[in-house]
Amino acid sequence: MSEHTTSSAAPATADKRRILVTSALPYANGSIHLGHLLEHIQTDIWTRFQRLRGHECYSVCADDAHGTPVMLKAQEQGITPEEMVAKTRAEHHQDLQDFYVDYNNYYVTHSPENKALCEEIYTRLDNAGYISKRTINQLYDPQKEMFLPDRFVKGTCPSCNAEDQNGDSCDVCGATYSPTEVKNPRSVVSGATPVLKESEHFFFDLPKFEDMLKGWIRSGAIQNEMANKLQEWFEEGLQQWDISRDAPYFGFEIPGAPNKFFYVWVDAPVGYMASFKNFCDQNSLEFDDFWKADSTAELYHFIGKDITYFHCLFWPAMLEGAGYRKPTGVNIHGFVTVNGAKMSKSRGTFIKGRTYLDHLNPEYLRYYFAAKLGDSVTDIDLNFQDFAHKVNSDLVGKVVNIASRCASFITKRFDGKLSDTVLDQALLNEFHQAAQSIAQLYENRKYHQAVREIMALADKANQFIDTNAPWVTIKEEGKAQFTHDVCSMGINMFRILVTYLKPVLPVLADKTEQFLNDTLTWQSTQEVLTGHAINKFKPMMQRVEMEKIDAMVDASKEHLEPTTSVDPDSPLAKDPVSDTISFEEFAKVDLRIARIANAEHVEGADKLLRLELDLGGDTRQVFAGIKSAYSPESLIGKHTVMVANLAPRKMRFGLSEGMVLAAGPGGKDLYIMEPHEGAKPGMRVK
Ligand code: MSP
Ligand code: ZN
Repeated sequence: MSEHTTSSAAPATADKRRILVTSALPYANGSIHLGHLLEHIQTDIWTRFQRLRGHECYSVCADDAHGTPVMLKAQEQGITPEEMVAKTRAEHHQDLQDFYVDYNNYYVTHSPENKALCEEIYTRLDNAGYISKRTINQLYDPQKEMFLPDRFVKGTCPSCNAEDQNGDSCDVCGATYSPTEVKNPRSVVSGATPVLKESEHFFFDLPKFEDMLKGWIRSGAIQNEMANKLQEWFEEGLQQWDISRDAPYFGFEIPGAPNKFFYVWVDAPVGYMASFKNFCDQNSLEFDDFWKADSTAELYHFIGKDITYFHCLFWPAMLEGAGYRKPTGVNIHGFVTVNGAKMSKSRGTFIKGRTYLDHLNPEYLRYYFAAKLGDSVTDIDLNFQDFAHKVNSDLVGKVVNIASRCASFITKRFDGKLSDTVLDQALLNEFHQAAQSIAQLYENRKYHQAVREIMALADKANQFIDTNAPWVTIKEEGKAQFTHDVCSMGINMFRILVTYLKPVLPVLADKTEQFLNDTLTWQSTQEVLTGHAINKFKPMMQRVEMEKIDAMVDASKEHLEPTTSVDPDSPLAKDPVSDTISFEEFAKVDLRIARIANAEHVEGADKLLRLELDLGGDTRQVFAGIKSAYSPESLIGKHTVMVANLAPRKMRFGLSEGMVLAAGPGGKDLYIMEPHEGAKPGMRVK
């Protein structure tokens, strides 16, 4: 008797494909968060699917080590960029592994392989005439002695005069401009006023590749909606791409150009090659088979929509110009939002991978993202209610439930062995036959549809069990064989469902393999187990508890991080700095210098003094809770600071028309603000 009976509906096995897959390389100056995880999980599901189908599929990633932000952050921490990058890379890799994201190699762009490849590619581009040099004027921080990237310049918007805007765009009016147009510019790094300084830069001749790129984006390599978007960029006209940065810069020096470095976006995508090269060298694989111009291997990059320009214009052009193959596909996804809004530190929805792991099972997130991910670039909303509901009802309530309803009878009553006969071949055939369309959906990254089909099958399995009610028939005379057959059908359907879900839920698949004494491959979906010994069923997945989600959100609520460590007894430790507000929010508070024209006790009030505040033309009455610390006489004639546009408040003793500012815990420990000599009543404090 054969244990694996193969149905006739097996799809013809496709030829073995050779595939290399990448995710975008996370920057080495921040933590992995749920946005990154969408991408890594999407990539990992696809990779695992290809491997499950028997293809030769490798996936690589790395930390993106170079650039100004990394350099400055390391300085801030008082360590070398190399040290910081090594630490961050290890953390990132651990986070990803804990989400069962299984790269063949997780490397770093600051590597000898990457340096060699960048130099080679640059030299080839240069020899082919694609590199030119030109002197440009750029903002320079004279104090820090460095050129300033746009995001390190702030100032007044040249369009609407809003203060404290970015060097390249205004959050208030939406204008975009060059950092040299910003009014009152200042360096974010030192606060100094930047000056214009000349420097020679290296440019890559992107426009030469326009025809090639137009063909490539319409070759099926990227989604149509993104190809249309790129079309707009072509219409705006392709520009020469500035690929050099001046020292000090953390990066690779350009060959033959001392103190000139490759811009981080040059060496970052080359980092895909370098990570794979490093893997090849340790595993006797031929790097060239995957990267030479006429390679027949497939190459896919998974990226977010924000970095499309780099991956769909610069990168294919660089590869082509340097004599390498171009990507088979660039798979672009949208952004993660949480409860319908952009991830926010103050709302606690900017959730780091590590914080999630402290509270919740990673397979929940893998399943939820799979259930939402299609092949479009629309954003993916993580709604916590929906998340809990989907996981609980689909995974716990439907899939795992099938096994838990059937397994114990097999163990207790049928010697731990599945039946020799198949009760409902027609139903089982439906399970076998779904393989083709589910495979097609995974292949095309329509995971949400694959999940929907799998759950429809799970519903059928549960209906079958409901209808045949083994918990009733087990007690009925002469129904033993029937009950055995029903439960064995249940286990077989469960086995096929878990196989379909294996790319998404590797741990559930592991547990199922142990439970079934079996290895699940794509071929498993075409087989039925008969007369096969299984093990005792152990619970496989817990329900999501809303309290765990709440705790995760709480733990993600961030206060502004102090730059130095806080003394535990300091006021800051007991009362940390509040959530960040925008300049506009701050500007709404109208603070004025006031002269205390009069101060007196208030009858019947044991905490309050009545103050008459002179604003230089306007007088305000304010009741202030400072009686415990000040006598009225000591205040008269002093200057202080008041909130002048606070809504007036009716109190038992009269109208309070503002507020004076004071610090301290209370009682005798209370200190009102007093301006420096020279401040006049009515002056605005800003
Ligand atoms: N270092 C560059 C990529 C270089 S690839 C040669 C970079 N790093 S990143 O850390 O900012 O982003 C890494 C990836 O995460 C990008 O594909 C980006 O689109 C993605 N995401 C970052 N935040 C995201 C969301 N909130 N949602 C979904 N993906 C997001 O860009
Ligand atoms: Zn503006």
